[in-house]
Amino acid sequence: MAIMASKASTGKSVASDLFAERFGDRRTDKLPATLISFASHLHALVIELRPSRDEWRAFLNLLIDIGDYSDTRRDEWMLISDLFGISALVEELNHCRPPDATPNTSRGPFYRDDTPERPLGANISLDGKGEPLGVSGRVLDLDGQPVRGARVTTWQANSQGCYENQQPDHQPEFNLRGRFTTDEAGRFHYKTVIPAGYPVPLDGPAGALLKRAGFPPRRPAHLQFHIAAEGFETITTHIFDADDPALGSDPLFAVKPELIKRFRTGSGQCELDCTFVMVRMRQEGLR
Ligand SMILES: [Fe+2]
Repeated sequence: MAIMASKASTGKSVASDLFAERFGDRRTDKLPATLISFASHLHALVIELRPSRDEWRAFLNLLIDIGDYSDTRRDEWMLISDLFGISALVEELNHCRPPDATPNTSRGPFYRDDTPERPLGANISLDGKGEPLGVSGRVLDLDGQPVRGARVTTWQANSQGCYENQQPDHQPEFNLRGRFTTDEAGRFHYKTVIPAGYPVPLDGPAGALLKRAGFPPRRPAHLQFHIAAEGFETITTHIFDADDPALGSDPLFAVKPELIKRFRTGSGQCELDCTFVMVRMRQEGLR
C-alpha cells in the first residue's frame, strides 16, 4: 500500500482516497459505496469549516446526545432527519409519482410497525377522550379502480397533541392506532377523535436546535397513514386539518396542497373522507 504525503496544507485531503482504499477495495467486508462517499463529503466539509478540536468534540457530543435520546419508543435520529428536511428529500427523490397519485411524506418518529389489525368500523380511540371523528376512505389505482386488500395503517396524536408512545403512563397501548384492510370496493372506515397539532419534542437535542433557530416547533393537526398493497408502491403520507393556522410552517416539510382536508364539515359532525391513489410497482429495467 502506498504511503501518500499529506496534502492538508494545500487545502486538499488525501484521507478520502485512503479511506476508500482501506475500506472500499477489499474483497470481503466491503463497505457500501454510499458510506465511502459520505466519508469523502465529510472530509470536504471539515476542510471547508476547519473546526477546532473542541468544536469537533462538541459536534461528536451532539451525535452522542441524539443517540442517548433514542430508544424503542422514540427515534431522535429520525427527528433530526425530519427537521433537516432530509426525510422529505429522500421521499421526493425516491417517489416521483404522477400528479394524480398520492404523494409520500416523511413517516416521522412515532410510527409503530406492530400496530394491531382492527376490523372495519372499529373505534381506535381506546380511552374515548376527544371530539369524535369519522374517517372513511378509498384506495384506488391510477385508473380509478379499487385496490382491495390494501393494508391501511393509521396513527395520530390525541386531542392534547400527544401520541400514545409519548405517554405510556397516560394513554392505553396502541391508542389512536390501527391497521385496516380495504374491502372489495377499496374502501375502509373507522372512528377516532380529532387530533390536535403538537410541537415536535423539544426536550432533546433536535428540539434544542429548533429553539436556537427560533422556528415555531408546532406541527399542524394531522392523521398519518401507511398504505401497502401487493404490486403497488407503498404510500406513507399525512392528511392535514385545513383549519389549522400552522399549515404554512410545518417544521417537517410535509404539507402539500393535495393532503389538506377539512375535518369539521360544519354539519355538527366531524367526518373526513379521503382518497389515496397508489402507483403500480415499476418493473425492473423500466423507468
Ligand atoms: Fe404526526
